[in-house]
Amino acid sequence: MIQFPKIIQGGMGVGVSNWRLAQAVSKLGQLGVVSGTALDSVFVRRLADGDQGGHVRRGLDAFPFQEMAKRIWQGYFVPGGKAAGAPYKALPMHQKRDARKLVELCMVSNFVEVILAREGHENPVGINFLEKVQIPHLPSIYGAMLAGVGYVLMGAGIPLHIPGVLDAFAAHQPAEYRLAVAGAAASMDTLMRFDPAEYAEGPLPVLDRPRFLAIVSSNTLAATMLRRADGRVDGFVVESPAAGGHNAPPRGKLQLNAAGEPVYGERDRVNIEDMRALGVPFWLAGGYGNPAKLREALDQGAAGVQVGTAFAFSRESGMRADLKTQLIRQAIAGAGEVFTDPLASPTGFPFKVAQLEGTTSEPDVYAARIRTCDLGYLREPYAMGDGEIGYRCSAEPVETYVAKGGKIEETVGRKCLCNTLMANIGHAQTRRDGADEPALITVGDDLNTIAQFIAPGRESYSAQDVVERLLGLSGAVPREAESLLEATA
Ligand SMILES: Cc1cc2nc3c(=O)[nH]c(=O)nc-3n(C[C@H](O)[C@H](O)[C@H](O)COP(=O)(O)O)c2cc1C
Repeated sequence: MIQFPKIIQGGMGVGVSNWRLAQAVSKLGQLGVVSGTALDSVFVRRLADGDQGGHVRRGLDAFPFQEMAKRIWQGYFVPGGKAAGAPYKALPMHQKRDARKLVELCMVSNFVEVILAREGHENPVGINFLEKVQIPHLPSIYGAMLAGVGYVLMGAGIPLHIPGVLDAFAAHQPAEYRLAVAGAAASMDTLMRFDPAEYAEGPLPVLDRPRFLAIVSSNTLAATMLRRADGRVDGFVVESPAAGGHNAPPRGKLQLNAAGEPVYGERDRVNIEDMRALGVPFWLAGGYGNPAKLREALDQGAAGVQVGTAFAFSRESGMRADLKTQLIRQAIAGAGEVFTDPLASPTGFPFKVAQLEGTTSEPDVYAARIRTCDLGYLREPYAMGDGEIGYRCSAEPVETYVAKGGKIEETVGRKCLCNTLMANIGHAQTRRDGADEPALITVGDDLNTIAQFIAPGRESYSAQDVVERLLGLSGAVPREAESLLEATA
């Protein structure tokens, strides 16, 4: 019988659920998940910072195509790290037909993240992608599979064709994926293709087909996936709007509450009975990071829960230590505030934001940032008049976006998630005036409940503390906010 984990540590991009966190969780027999989003950029920035600890080098040594590994090392490694205050070298932004160099980088960076997460244990490791960030999918998935990834999880879209991609790559066969291009005529060539044979430099390892879990916000979507996907869907993560990161928009006409957040209603509630009736395992996510909620999920017939926020603040996660500490202090004081921002994300999906000084959650920090688009993962492909594909992001300079046919009202309140999320993990770009890109932290509604993982007198906790507490194995007792405040005063 297949053993499923009770806890999935949710994928958290960019770089928050890195190999270190996923390794720690998988070592404990639960499912650790690395984020595959923008991993090529994270990877080259790690190399530009001198590959501290030599982990990337170790991962590269395990890559089956050593000539490719060598090219990448030579192209991006900066011995001792780039000079303080020097900017990171820019990668070209993704386009439907990426240069070979960028395709190789996607393969290799995803391979390295997964192989490092698999070190020191025999348990499965997963990788998470956002369907919306489509262009890097094929080489990234193949790279992760070369490293023996056990699960692929995907949300933020309807990934009907990923199961088929996994089947093809397990046999080292070519796979295709259709790029969603706004305004494309039916005749437009929107198909992306990746043929492993074009990249192989030697004998190919035997690959297992990873399990595929679709991240959905409704049982209807889960049913559609099972009916229409072009291959096996092994299960679902059912995410409620309490979850950190992007949330599915509410059904029907968007209504905002007095604070300006989307209002979710009865129609957005998942019918658990219908989920059970689908007959495939599912995990509940969004506010499930405590032992009572895990028990509740199991009682309802779920295989377990997916938890993000609790792990995002653990010592192993990729989030910058200073940001972690500030938000942990807020949580201990019961003072953490989370805003579900309907505008911030260029995807148009609601995006949860922790209110934190110095980040673009503050209007003046947001206003002071000069709009720039140089990472481009959330750019929307669109059909240009000449039959070519153009790319635009509603957080890029307003006039540029409008010149590309974007609507000016879509630029209002949009935030550059690419650059802020890189800043969150210590890879902020330095601008010409010497200023670093500001951060912007995403967390779930349950931010304040992370205080339950913190032992008296401490300001940090480990992934193991989270796993043990959720499973009811730990002796740690939750502390009252007041006594913790005394301890940290
Ligand atoms: C910092 C952070 C980043 C996230 N990034 C992603 C992501 O890249 N892809 C994704 O599918 N979910 C993402 N999520 C959602 C988590 O995988 C998970 O489903 C969610 O956090 C569960 O709800 P919780 O935050 O209440 O535990 C993110 C969550 C957080 C807190």
